[in-house]
Formats: sequence, C-alpha cells, structure tokens
Amino acid sequence: MKQELRAVEWTGNGLSLIDQTALPHELRRVAVRDVDALVDAIVRLVVRGAPAIGAAGAYGVAVALLEGERRGWGRTELDAAVERVRDARPTAVNLAVCVDRVAPLVDRGLDAVLAEAHAIVGEDLRANHDMAVHGADWLVERVAVGRPLRLLTHCNTGALATAGWGTALGVVRELHRRGLVEVVHADETRPLLQGARLTAWELAHEGIPHYVQADGAAAATILRGEVDAAVVGADRIAANGDTANKIGTVGVALACAYAGVPFMVAAPTTTVDLDTASGADIPIEMRDGAEVLQWAGVRTAPAGSRGHNPAFDVTPGTLVSALVTERGVLEVAAGRLPGDHLR
Ligand code: MRU
Repeated sequence: MKQELRAVEWTGNGLSLIDQTALPHELRRVAVRDVDALVDAIVRLVVRGAPAIGAAGAYGVAVALLEGERRGWGRTELDAAVERVRDARPTAVNLAVCVDRVAPLVDRGLDAVLAEAHAIVGEDLRANHDMAVHGADWLVERVAVGRPLRLLTHCNTGALATAGWGTALGVVRELHRRGLVEVVHADETRPLLQGARLTAWELAHEGIPHYVQADGAAAATILRGEVDAAVVGADRIAANGDTANKIGTVGVALACAYAGVPFMVAAPTTTVDLDTASGADIPIEMRDGAEVLQWAGVRTAPAGSRGHNPAFDVTPGTLVSALVTERGVLEVAAGRLPGDHLR
C-alpha cells in the first residue's frame, strides 16, 4: 500500500508542509512555527491549492496562538497575525473560510483550535473521496465511449493541493482505480508549472499514463478529438456557477464548449462562495510579473518588457457541464446553480 501524501500536517508544536517548490526533484518537508514563515510559504506556493491552503490557514491560527504565547502578544497582535494568514492569497475562498471557522475558538485555547483544524482536514479528505466517486460515476454515464477515457486536466488538484487524495485528480484516480483511464493530458501550467512538476509527479506516483503538454496545446488537443472530458479544480465558485481556477482554465473550457466535450469542475462545497454573486466579483491574485519573464531563473524576455501575471481566470458557469462536490453533481450549464445544492 502506497503512503498517501499529506501536504499539510500538524506535528504537535507546529506545521509541517511538503515544499511544493522543490518537487518533482526533491520531496522535502519544511517546518513552520511562526506566522511570517506561514505567510511566506503560502505566498511562494510552498503550500498551494485551495483546500490545502485552507487547511494551512486553519492550523495557522494555532501557529499564531503559540507564537503569541512565546512573544507575549496581546489580543490585538494575535488578531492581526491571524488576519495576515487569512489575507495571504485572495482568490481561493477556502483560506478565509477555514481561518474564519477556527479563529473564534482562540479564547477556548489551543486544544479547541486544533480540534477544529483537524476536523477541517478530516472533512476535506472525506469530501475528496466522495466527489471522486460522484465525478467518476457521472463521466462513466455521460461519456459512454466504450473504452477507457482520455482526460485533460489543468494545474494540480491532487493530494498535494488538498488534505489528501485530490479533487479533479481525485476523480481521475477513482476512474483509474476502475480501470477506466487511457491517458491524462496534463497541461504544464505556466508560469509556475504546477501541472508539469506536481500533477505529472502525482500521476507517475499512481502509475496513471499521462502526457505533459504546453498550455497552448490544450485547445488543439481538444479540437482534434483527443480528449473525452476535461476535469479541473476550482479556487472559488460564485453563486451563479462562475468558477475561478488557475490561469488558462477558461481557454480549456471554451475549447471544450466548441468541441462538445464535457468540462467538469470538481471542488468541495467549501470552495463555493454564495456571497459572491458572479465571477466579476471574485478577486484575482496578480503575481509578480517577473514569474513570466524568466525560465528556470534565467531572464527570457528583453530587459524592457513588463510581465502580466494574473494567477487565476474565471470560467463562466455557462461553460461548466458538471460541478462535482461531495454532495453530488450539478449541471451548471444546464441551469442548476450552486445555491440549489447548498441552501
Ligand atoms: O496557484 P495555485 O497552485 O494555488 O492554484 C491552484 C489551482 O488553481 C487549483 O486548480 C485549485 O486550487 C484547486 S486545488 C484542489
């Protein structure tokens, strides 16, 4: 039995994170004992993926509590530290939701805070397994091609991006478990290569046949009929079904719509934000332009060029064939909205 990856773990006196910047070359963990280190880890994508940063944020309240005890913080300083964790990245709603769920427990002490953070992790793990089954069932029924499926995914949505197992990649893993995956096209996911570095690593770990392809190859692969379905994750899903995910996702969705290929979004209900009416209201993280002006640390663009580096885009709900959560499948493009599911 292979060891299941745990990107975020509580060690007793702090957080242990898989350093996702070092993969696939090195599997190493980093210890996080203070809020500065945690914010830095979230911003640099040492820990990344909406549910995983939610879990890190939940434990971050415990990190802040322990640091506050060591440094003699008063309540104002503790609240400010928790707020910094909450605001470390803006797009994935899971981070704020998880911090807000745990923060009110600080008055009850470390054990209460940790119990809630552990509960969040347990719920995410269960949600991942449940949505994997729902998503796989839907694809088997709707994409009845009579042979194993050729899938496309974007960014990384596996065990590394969650409490364990994965969302979109969890669906892929479940299909593979049933012997129903021919191949996965993993978009490399410029500029930080979550697909080429992390998804390919997880797929290899699971023995799932795959290609890594340039993001720019996705539309052509879909239009040439080489993909039976695209399965992606989400960072925030608005009330109307508009979905923020890694930059490049909307191009995949458009190509799928044009080609009549199902476009599936798999995410836990913690990623659904009914307070956000539509995608236009989702805050999109803008990252340092330098990330797109270089390759492996070497500048590739001319000295005078500026980088444009939005980390996420928004796919209109009208392009989402199926939204899979732990509660089941919603056919958003057909008019079923996330609120039908959650209210
Ligand atoms: O910038 P990242 O790597 O945190 O972006 C991650 C994604 O866009 C994922 O698709 C999303 O968070 C879902 S992870 C289960």
